[in-house]
Amino acid sequence: MSRSRIVVGISGGIAAYKSCILIRLLRKAGADVVAVPTPAALEMIGKTTLEALTGNRVHVRTSEAADQVTHVRHAQEADAIVVAPATANTLAKTRWGIADNLLLNTLLAARCPVVMAPAMHTEMWTNPATVENVAVLRSRGIDVLDVGVGQLTGKDAGPGRMLEPEAIAEHVLATVARTRDLQGRHVVVSAGGTREPLDPVRFLGNRSSGRFGVELAREARSRGAEVTLVAANVEASVLERAGGTRLVRVESARDMLEAMEREASGADIVVMCAAVADYRPVERLDVKRKKTGEDLAVRLVENPDILAALARDRRKEGRLVVGFAAETGDETASALEYGIAKARRKGADLLVVNEVGERLGFGDVDTAVAIVADDGTVVREAEGSKSRMARVIFDAIRERM
Ligand code: PMT
Repeated sequence: MSRSRIVVGISGGIAAYKSCILIRLLRKAGADVVAVPTPAALEMIGKTTLEALTGNRVHVRTSEAADQVTHVRHAQEADAIVVAPATANTLAKTRWGIADNLLLNTLLAARCPVVMAPAMHTEMWTNPATVENVAVLRSRGIDVLDVGVGQLTGKDAGPGRMLEPEAIAEHVLATVARTRDLQGRHVVVSAGGTREPLDPVRFLGNRSSGRFGVELAREARSRGAEVTLVAANVEASVLERAGGTRLVRVESARDMLEAMEREASGADIVVMCAAVADYRPVERLDVKRKKTGEDLAVRLVENPDILAALARDRRKEGRLVVGFAAETGDETASALEYGIAKARRKGADLLVVNEVGERLGFGDVDTAVAIVADDGTVVREAEGSKSRMARVIFDAIRERM
């Protein structure tokens, strides 16, 4: 396997001197390292030091080596980019897509995993502007690490210290290893909510936006898998994030069954994240239903259980099947207890239990998941953005494989 290439971005904080240790650790682990300091970082450490440590030329401005389009080349060739330290300024500019130095241009062009290790004074770290910037970056899939607590520059102490280079190096190397751990695998993910037509105008639907499924598809792709996304009624603005995946669009539960059975044959991993209607109207009118002034009862019939069908043949066909459980707790049991019971019933290898409600679970929100094995054991619990949870879910899938 070829050497991994890691871009180490350095912005202008005192912790910049620690990026030298980070570079040494990454090189010791066998990586080819390119340093991209901001002009402010060069007031903290020297270009010569970075060239000697990396063994590669160091550029700072986009106009340097313009014939090689350095920022695009760095971004295209990198297996990962780590920004350490990431100042409040660099975090803010990255959030807004500002590109007024080579590092910011590289970040804007990046398609590989990006890790940022913040370093700043406590007041800046806890400022609502920084808090919001970090949340937005994380929701876009950028891995903004937490900060350490301790001595800061000057007499201050508190949260805001950059994590130690050893911890950052370990994290970045694990990130790079992940970018290849699904290479050669075919992953099928379902996303969105099915619509069960009542007439040509109306349908029974649900609140799923497809966002979680799209994040799962992105994560599988970033780990090197070939990905098919079976999307039920997902808006184009959400689907945009699934670039590079094969897209199959469906509408109803029965469409989804047909698509999933077709796509799952030959797949290594199937993830049923879609919210599938359990019932559909018995009758679908060909013309719009007219108002009668009377109460109306609609008879429903049960839909096929797609996950159960996929789980039934999974061993024979050599695939790993993951389901989701959208649960609400009540006075009898918690959402997790219902999820555990469902995990035993559905027979999927893993079931991701998440609590849903009017303001919980659906759309662009943080979410809490518990990943449950088919024997009811909780193998992982985590909370955060859907893109972070997608990573946790694929880590659990890798372990299970
Ligand atoms: O799309 P988002 O807005 O990001 O929201 C994400 C989500 C809340 C939709 C997602 O996290 C989620 O929980 N998806 C599963 C929703 C669901 O249908 O849960 P369930 O408990 O009703 O079904 C359990 C499992 O069986 C699911 O994997 C479901 O896909 C599957 N199922 C359900 C019914 C059916 N007829 N066939 C199925 O395969």
